[in-house]
Amino acid sequence: MAGLVGRRDKHAAQSVRGSRIAAAIAVGILLGGTFAFLYPHGFFFSNHASQFQGRRLAKSILQIGETTCETSERVNMLKSDLADLSTKNDELKKQVRDLTQKVMAAEQKNGKSEQEVVVVGEQQKAGPFGTVKGIRTNPVVLPDETVNPRLLKILKKVAVKNELIVVLANSNVKAMLEVWFASIKKVGIPNHLVVALDNGIVDFCKENDVPFYTRDPDEDIDSVAKTGGNHAVSGLKFRILREFLQLGYSVLLSDVDIVYLQNPFDHIYRDSDVESMSDGHDNMTAYGYNDVSDDPSMGWARYAHTMRIWVYNSGFFYLRPTLPAIELLDRVADRLSHPPPAWDQAVFNEELFFPSYPGYVGLHASKRTMDRYMFMNSKTLFTQVRKDDNLKKLKPVIVHLNYHPDKLPRMKAVMEFYVNGKQDALEPFPDGSDW
Ligand SMILES: *[C@@H]1O[C@H](CO)[C@@H](O)[C@H](O)[C@H]1NC(C)=O
Repeated sequence: MAGLVGRRDKHAAQSVRGSRIAAAIAVGILLGGTFAFLYPHGFFFSNHASQFQGRRLAKSILQIGETTCETSERVNMLKSDLADLSTKNDELKKQVRDLTQKVMAAEQKNGKSEQEVVVVGEQQKAGPFGTVKGIRTNPVVLPDETVNPRLLKILKKVAVKNELIVVLANSNVKAMLEVWFASIKKVGIPNHLVVALDNGIVDFCKENDVPFYTRDPDEDIDSVAKTGGNHAVSGLKFRILREFLQLGYSVLLSDVDIVYLQNPFDHIYRDSDVESMSDGHDNMTAYGYNDVSDDPSMGWARYAHTMRIWVYNSGFFYLRPTLPAIELLDRVADRLSHPPPAWDQAVFNEELFFPSYPGYVGLHASKRTMDRYMFMNSKTLFTQVRKDDNLKKLKPVIVHLNYHPDKLPRMKAVMEFYVNGKQDALEPFPDGSDW
């Protein structure tokens, strides 16, 4: 191209018309360069048109270079091409300016430039009234087998249909783990795994033929486990679970103070990123309700409506291996590893439920509250179910002794009541704790 321009320059010096053409070519090349810089891969709507015009211009230039016959028609064509192109160039420059401004504004808002917005799915028309459903079942991640080949080997053996129950245990909770395991064995749930946090639990698992996994020493995690306070340590499970999901497995995280009475995998919906049991004790508190607050000083507008729901229990939840589920684990683990100290269950729920607002981007995971009678907390059992002849006939999937400090005797009583049919097994206990 540079050679062509040089050649044209010599000829062009001989006529006024020729010099106009030379200028036109120079501008054309400049414009071509601008287009190539702005649109190397053709992202913009106007790209096809400008490519076409650019080709036409180049062709015209070549033809002019090769023949001395310069018709005024051709010159006019060139002129109009150039006019089009410089208009387009101005438009594009403006577009770039606008976009740059938007990007800068976005960067300022987010306080960081690497904020990534992902828009998934093809455009589709909305169907008729009542037939439209938003996406709640997100795609699972592509399994990354390099993350932890040793764990993968265990999961391949233990998991059923790519899902399993995972419990973390150290020797402090060995007695409860025994009841936990006895109930699982009794129901016949094959896909469970103990993350053994010390040798006492490793020995217990070996003796009882319980599938277990011990983590590789990890400086980061272990320093948290050793030197961190209670709250930092409770963040451990969120870090450990991440690898399970990265390997493509769904996890039903279980605390150790849980008795299994049916196979939970027969009662999971699998339609949400997070499916969790509730700390609620009736339909309203478990599934959410409109709590009206009253400020009489506002007169006409004294009532303000608020949304309330009792927290999800971070000791029993099912995660699908999706990006929002992994993001949830990361967010919770990250917050628990920094001051101010926080309760893992509160953090789990805040990350899960708070929407985006200025200065904050929420998680936006899909969630499902488990049936409160099937996945029963111990408040529901001891304050309602054991006193109601109809509710007593229900067989829950699990009972979580989360509301009571005397966990072990209550776990054993739950086994007696539901497994051995001892009708008065639950009676000796007070509704709440004694103190
Ligand atoms: C509580 O919720 C369950 C599940 O939606 C429903 O079947 C039941 O009728 C509700 N009970 C009451 C008292 O509203």
